[in-house]
Amino acid sequence: MVSSIVSFPSPFLMSSPRFQAPKGVHDILPDEHLYFTFIKKVVRHRCREAGFRRISTPIFENVEVFARGIGDSTDIVEKEMFAFETKGGDKVALKPEGTAGVVRAYIEHGMHMWPQPVELYYIEPHFRYDRPQKGRFRQFHQFGFEVLGESDPALDAQVIALAHKINLDLGIADRLTLQINTIGCPNCRKKYREDLINYYTGKERSLCENCQGRLLRNPLRLLDCKEEDCQILASMAPKFENAIDEECKEHYALLKEYLTELKIPFVENSHLVRGLDYYTRTVFEFWSKSEGAQNATGGGGRYDGLVELMGGQSTPAIGYAAGIERTIDYMKEAGIRPPNKDTVHVFLAQLGHIAKKRSLTLLNALRERGINAVGSMGKDSIKSQMHVADRHKAQYALIMGQIEVQEDTIILRNMTKGSQEILPYEGIVDVVAEKIGVKKFDKRKLWEE
Ligand code: HAM
Repeated sequence: MVSSIVSFPSPFLMSSPRFQAPKGVHDILPDEHLYFTFIKKVVRHRCREAGFRRISTPIFENVEVFARGIGDSTDIVEKEMFAFETKGGDKVALKPEGTAGVVRAYIEHGMHMWPQPVELYYIEPHFRYDRPQKGRFRQFHQFGFEVLGESDPALDAQVIALAHKINLDLGIADRLTLQINTIGCPNCRKKYREDLINYYTGKERSLCENCQGRLLRNPLRLLDCKEEDCQILASMAPKFENAIDEECKEHYALLKEYLTELKIPFVENSHLVRGLDYYTRTVFEFWSKSEGAQNATGGGGRYDGLVELMGGQSTPAIGYAAGIERTIDYMKEAGIRPPNKDTVHVFLAQLGHIAKKRSLTLLNALRERGINAVGSMGKDSIKSQMHVADRHKAQYALIMGQIEVQEDTIILRNMTKGSQEILPYEGIVDVVAEKIGVKKFDKRKLWEE
């Protein structure tokens, strides 16, 4: 998969520009924004439809929110946080993910008093000091949703269904497989941790350096290591089904039943554990059919202990987040082009002082009528203004020179056919609106959304 986000220097530049975006971050250029806008629209529509409301948490939080929320010994907290001290001495970090901040906000704003469950969604930038590579950036965007206050597995199925529906809308669902697993509750996991530590003890030398370090802190992570030797050992490791308690088993069985009822295909993957410490019971990810876990578009799970861990009342919860850049890569691979609403309907060319003055009001009138209009305000010749109109791919050009001003007319040029006609200046906005087929822009519509 070729990541389209990486931009190459313009061929017109003789040498590399003096300033470039820092390593691992990128500009989102207008063509890329077509995808971002489309994804945002789909997410907003599907989330609203399901009763979710939007939340934004700050770009940075006290470092403790993430250390406690995500887990001190996770890669994200240990190695990947952009953490710094403010001039006032506060230790803060750019948010590496959305869940911990949402939980902090849930507690801080007393959302346990709101009708439960509280359903929130977000579309935000996140930051991880990752090694930049295909689909992996230091600033990236996620859309995600969190449901707090309900423990029923039917909700797990609904969150997964929402993620699946968004993948369908974006045209990428058939490129992905849904991987699911249960990692149980802290009780059954305690027993399983012991089983795993016993199994791996004495085999440390066959493990990669990362896994050697994780063995005592977080042995479950050894199961999803991508190193070949670690995978061989993991394939023979004790199975969680021997440690899981009855309630967790029932929760997982019901989830599978509900997913089947919803006709959402899934693959059970007993090695899926996720890289954040807050998960309990259900975990899931959407993997690429061609690349496996390497570039999951999104993942999530239940985190029934997190609200309490962060100082709130015991509150079950579940959520999901997807990477927008990765989603765009999959959309491009599938040949999906989102609609381009940035088209220029009319380019207005003018020559002379009075024509320029008129074009100011005419541009306003065109835009008020819902016509996308761009005007040339410089002193260029009509010919070079027409070149600019071509570069904008304008459907029509309106041309107003000294003669037209004197005769109260204006030239309307069809840029595709190359034909043109001279029309009265008065009423030109209606004529253009009719040709383009735009409806009158009604400001009240903004309030009706
Ligand atoms: P996560 O699996 O760490 O989960 O991230 C979710 C998605 O964000 C990934 O599947 C990937 O698409 C994208 N992503 C992560 N890191 C990067 C990166 N460095 N560059 C580009 N994309 C990236 C979470 O963040 C959890 N908060 C999800 C969740 C919500 N669980 C419960 N609620």
